[in-house]
Amino acid sequence: MKLFWNLLSIIIFFVGLFVGYGLRKKEEKRKSKLVWSRFERRNIMRTINALVAAIDFKDHLTKSHSDNVKHYACAIAREMKLPPAEIERIKEACQVHDLGKIGVHDNILTKPGKLTPEEIKEMRLHSLAGAVILKPFPFLEKIVEIVRQHHERYDGQGYPDGIKGEKICMGARIMAVADSFDAMTSKRPYRQPMNMAAAIEELKNNSGTQFDPKVAEVFIRLLEREPELLKSVER
Ligand SMILES: [Fe+2]
Ligand SMILES: [Fe+2]
Repeated sequence: MKLFWNLLSIIIFFVGLFVGYGLRKKEEKRKSKLVWSRFERRNIMRTINALVAAIDFKDHLTKSHSDNVKHYACAIAREMKLPPAEIERIKEACQVHDLGKIGVHDNILTKPGKLTPEEIKEMRLHSLAGAVILKPFPFLEKIVEIVRQHHERYDGQGYPDGIKGEKICMGARIMAVADSFDAMTSKRPYRQPMNMAAAIEELKNNSGTQFDPKVAEVFIRLLEREPELLKSVER
């Protein structure tokens, strides 16, 4: 009888050891997959950012534009108390939002004057092109959505899909305000930059048509409270 219990304990011991080893291997595999995907994600984002830097270099007029948009959009997102993970997504999306301009001809991108209707048509392809370039990376799914929608308008008159209101994701509604504000307050060869008061007036005039009124209101409140927000970006 004693031998039976001894054998049973030995069998239980080895079964326990075997199961424990199996579980540990499974956990190690799961962790290494997680580490690899983070590593992979970082490298892919670095490559994409290098592409964006190449566009900025080519298009000296919009140099620092992506950084400025990120600066404004993150300030709005924080003021709206969005979850940290969403703010992080908006930040990454801002950095790459005009990536699709890589497909726009240099003479259009650097034209020192207003664009013709044909040129505007080509320029407008950039939000869709950016989404197409980023689409093969499944972990960028949410960023792709923001990039695709960043020129949609709250009244549905934007592009490429003409979606309206809250059908446009929050990240893209925030980016639309930040993107336009940076364009308004930056110098162009055919016009001087708008001052803060004029740009705020423009945001008010287009609230509810081009911009989500809630997002525009938050940004105006933020600019009136912290005017240094405009001064702290590179011009
Ligand atoms: Fe854009
Ligand atoms: Fe932009």
